[in-house]
Amino acid sequence: MSDASTLDRAAVLDVTAIRREFPILSEQVRGKPLVFLDSAASAQKPRAVIAAMVHAMEHQYANVHRGLHWMSERATEAYEAARDAAQGLLGAASRDEIVFVRNTTEGINLVAHSYGRAMLKPGDAVLISAMEHHSNIVPWQMLRDSHGTELRVAPVTDQGELDMPAFEALLADGRVKLVAITHMSNVLGTYTPVERVIALAHAAGAKVMLDGSQAVVHRRVDVQALGCDFYVFTGHKLYGPTGIGVLWGRAELLEAMPPFLGGGDMISSVSFERSEWARVPHKFEAGTPAIIEGIGLRAAIDWTLALGWDRVAAHEQALTDHALARLSAIEGLRIIGSAQDRGGVVSFTLDGVHAHDVATILDRQGIAVRAGQHCAEPLMRRFGLDSTARASFAAYTTLSEIDYLAEQLARVRAFFR
Ligand code: ALA
Repeated sequence: MSDASTLDRAAVLDVTAIRREFPILSEQVRGKPLVFLDSAASAQKPRAVIAAMVHAMEHQYANVHRGLHWMSERATEAYEAARDAAQGLLGAASRDEIVFVRNTTEGINLVAHSYGRAMLKPGDAVLISAMEHHSNIVPWQMLRDSHGTELRVAPVTDQGELDMPAFEALLADGRVKLVAITHMSNVLGTYTPVERVIALAHAAGAKVMLDGSQAVVHRRVDVQALGCDFYVFTGHKLYGPTGIGVLWGRAELLEAMPPFLGGGDMISSVSFERSEWARVPHKFEAGTPAIIEGIGLRAAIDWTLALGWDRVAAHEQALTDHALARLSAIEGLRIIGSAQDRGGVVSFTLDGVHAHDVATILDRQGIAVRAGQHCAEPLMRRFGLDSTARASFAAYTTLSEIDYLAEQLARVRAFFR
C-alpha cells in the first residue's frame, strides 16, 4: 500500500546515505563533528567525483584534442563526455553550445569581452541588478570604461526581490542591449523571476545572460525552455572540482562572437600574417584545458542528476523553512531578505556581534559559515550593512545541523548580551 508516509519518504533525499558519499563530512573539527554550512562558497565533493579524477590521472591521462595515440584519444573521449553531460544538465540544443571556462567569473568576462565588444555599440546599455556578485558587476564596468557602454542597475526591494517596475522602466528607452543578471542571489537566496525578466528583456530588444552559479545546484535549468541567450555556472559549487565551469550560449551568438583568448586549440590554421579560428566551441578554448577537472565535472553532473530535481527542491525547501523558523526565533538576529521565492542561502546579522566574530565563534564549535560581504559589496550597502554571516545548504545538509547552528547562535547572543 502506498500511503502518505511512503510518498513523503520517496519525495525527500536519503541524506544519511548521501552523507556517506562525502568523505570529509565524517571529519571532526577540534573534536567536534564538522557542520559545513558554506556550500554556496564551494560544495564538498562526493566519492564519485574524487574517484573519477583519480582514475583519470591513474589510467586515462594524456593531453586532449592533439595526440593521435590511443592515450590522447581516450583522454579526449573522457574529457569531451563532460560537454555532453553539461548539454544534458542545461537542456542545450547542441553540445557545441557548451564552452568550458575556468569558472563563472571567466565565463562572464568572456561574454563581456567578446560579445560586449563585438556586438554592443558605445551608448548601448547593459542592465544588471543590485544583487549581483562582483563577478557580474566588474566585467561590465570594464566594458563601460573601455568601450563606452552604459551600465544600469535595477534596484532590489526591502524584501530582497528584484524591483520589477523599476526593472521594466530601465528597459523602456530601448537602449539596453544586454541584461546580465543572477538566477539566484548568493547573499539573499532570492530566485530572480527569470521567465518574466527574459520576456521583458527580449520585448525590449535585449539579450539575456543568467549567472547560474547558485541556481544550477538547486533547480533544474532548461535553457531552451527559459529562452535565455547565455547561461554561466561553475563546477565547484555543483559538487565538482575547481578550475572548470561552463558558458552556454546560443549557437548563432557564439558563431558571431570573436575569440576571447588566443593560442593553441582555438585555431584551424596559423601563419605569421593571419590565423583562422577553430569551430565553436573550440574557438573559445585556448590552450590545454582543465582535463582532469572536466572529467570530475562530468562525474559531478551525473551525481547531481541522479539525486532527482524534485527531491533536491523538497529538501532545500525543508532546510530553508526550518532555518528561517529557527533563526528568526533568536532575539537580536535579523535575516536579510524575505523573498517569496528563495533557496538555501540565509544571511543574517546578530545585534552587537560582528559577523566575523559570529563566524569565528561558530568555527570553534565545528560550524563553518561564511562572513563578510560575500563578493557583493553594493548589495551590502543597499541594506545598510558592512557584513553578514551566511549559512548555506546542500544536498548533504541536515535539519539537525541547522538546529545545532541555531543553538550555538543563541549561545553567542547570550554571551554578548
Ligand atoms: N561566490 C562565492 C560565495 O558566494 C564565493 O560565497
